[in-house]
Amino acid sequence: MSEYLLEMRGITKEFNGVKAIENIDLKVKPGECVGLCGENGAGKSTLMKVLSAVYPYGTWEGSIVWEGNELKARSIRETEEAGIVIIHQELMMVPHLSVAENIFLGSELTNGMGFVDYDLMNAKATALMNRLKMPDINVALPVLAYGGGKQQLIEIAKALNKNAKLLILDEPTSALTGTETETLLELIKEFKAHGMACVYISHKLDEVAAIADTVTVIRDGTHVGTHPMAELDTNKIITMMVGREMKNLFPREEHEVGEVIFEAKNITCWDTTNPDRKVVDDVSFQLRAGEILGVAGLVGAGRTELACKLFGYWKGDQQGKIFLNGKEIQVRNPADAVRQGISMVPEDRKRHGIIPLMGVGQNITMSVLGRFAHNQLIDAESEMAAIQHEIARMQVKTASPMLPIASLSGGNQQKAVVAKMLLPDPKVLILDEPTRGVDVGAKYEIYKLIFELAKQGVAILMISSELPEVLGISDRVLVIGEGQLRGDFVNVGLSQEKVLAAAIGKPETAAA
Ligand SMILES: Nc1ncnc2c1ncn2[C@@H]1O[C@H](COP(=O)(O)OP(=O)(O)OP(=O)(O)O)[C@@H](O)[C@H]1O
Ligand SMILES: [Mg+2]
Repeated sequence: MSEYLLEMRGITKEFNGVKAIENIDLKVKPGECVGLCGENGAGKSTLMKVLSAVYPYGTWEGSIVWEGNELKARSIRETEEAGIVIIHQELMMVPHLSVAENIFLGSELTNGMGFVDYDLMNAKATALMNRLKMPDINVALPVLAYGGGKQQLIEIAKALNKNAKLLILDEPTSALTGTETETLLELIKEFKAHGMACVYISHKLDEVAAIADTVTVIRDGTHVGTHPMAELDTNKIITMMVGREMKNLFPREEHEVGEVIFEAKNITCWDTTNPDRKVVDDVSFQLRAGEILGVAGLVGAGRTELACKLFGYWKGDQQGKIFLNGKEIQVRNPADAVRQGISMVPEDRKRHGIIPLMGVGQNITMSVLGRFAHNQLIDAESEMAAIQHEIARMQVKTASPMLPIASLSGGNQQKAVVAKMLLPDPKVLILDEPTRGVDVGAKYEIYKLIFELAKQGVAILMISSELPEVLGISDRVLVIGEGQLRGDFVNVGLSQEKVLAAAIGKPETAAA
């Protein structure tokens, strides 16, 4: 009997004749956590979709040996029955069903009469939430009542409920807060101690370093190397991923900060479902031409709501004034915003950023189509030229601009969304978690682009939950906590501790 729980041998998977992954091996021992690393589009998700039979046996080459026997699964149900459970990079929940219904989706509990037993499901789901240290979740509420981070944890609860022998986590923490991430890592360690193995995919390499026993790196669909984590560190992983050493993760560039061009005054937004609650509470700030203003805060602090309001996206009650070049402007909807020179890269790409089945290129040009119109007709050639230019500038990895954007790897979809929002030549650019799910090399490219835009005088408001990123590229940092402005710091000698203290509302330590 082999010492391995899982052996993937020589896996090759093609899409339309293009090899996404080629001849990849991956081995996992019982109770082992393997970190799977690689740049955007390297093939990590594809490899895991082969393993979990999202791509069924017969649609790829190579073999999978599971507990000593060849596995030829044709459906996710079969792999789940074998004990292989995957949590996908993009959430797969039914928003209008309750938390409990989602957890038991496809394996609903029934009573003696054969009817779905909601009380039992709710009780079991509640017990599970308690075990996962999320006692404040009401499992009878629809999943959409909770934000992205909580939804992600519910998805994880759902997976753990399936008694996995091997749990595959594909970018599980991109929507989680620091505390939620710690909870998750603790949970995985606990399950590992009971013999569960896992494959952990993340661009947050410190998480990989904290949880993985072994790290496998793939690049451009091929296997680069597998080493015990004890022989690696995050820098070594980066070098393997990008094929060269990266000394500086933040390409700071000098740029002039000019006059105030944008101002938000007394912005208040009320919750859409609970009209008594303020999600943004009387926030005012100014933004200068060429300035990079970072917005830090805990997840749920109201930063995204503020961005939505500024971009004409907020659906609930709202108050406050917006000024551009000293004149008050009305921003009733995103089209209004774009027309007046405000662009936004939204946090939730899947819901607001893309039309999944439309081509990569069409997604990029959709907000500026008028620019390519001649006599009511779209000049396809100049549109394609613009598309090619943006794809090259953002290094979007796609075989063709005609492919549906949904077929791109997560990070490459994000790069395409950034490209889309740059095409209108904004004066003010709002970026909400712009590097979520983006690999280190591509992050570097996005930072370079941000500095390039700043040099051209674009005012940039960048929301980010990654403090090193906020401190690495901002000129100034706003801190938002519970909807309120808790700090406005010049980013000189600013520390993570100071920002965090302001975010959680300890003004005595946060005093500027
Ligand atoms: N359904 C599909 N059709 C066509 N090409 C695809 C499809 N799914 C993935 N690909 C391609 O396969 C390659 C690998 O993609 P994959 O999603 O596995 O990357 P990844 O390593 O998970 O990247 P990321 O870190 O961005 O999530 C990419 O070039 C992608 O465009
Ligand atoms: Mg992926």
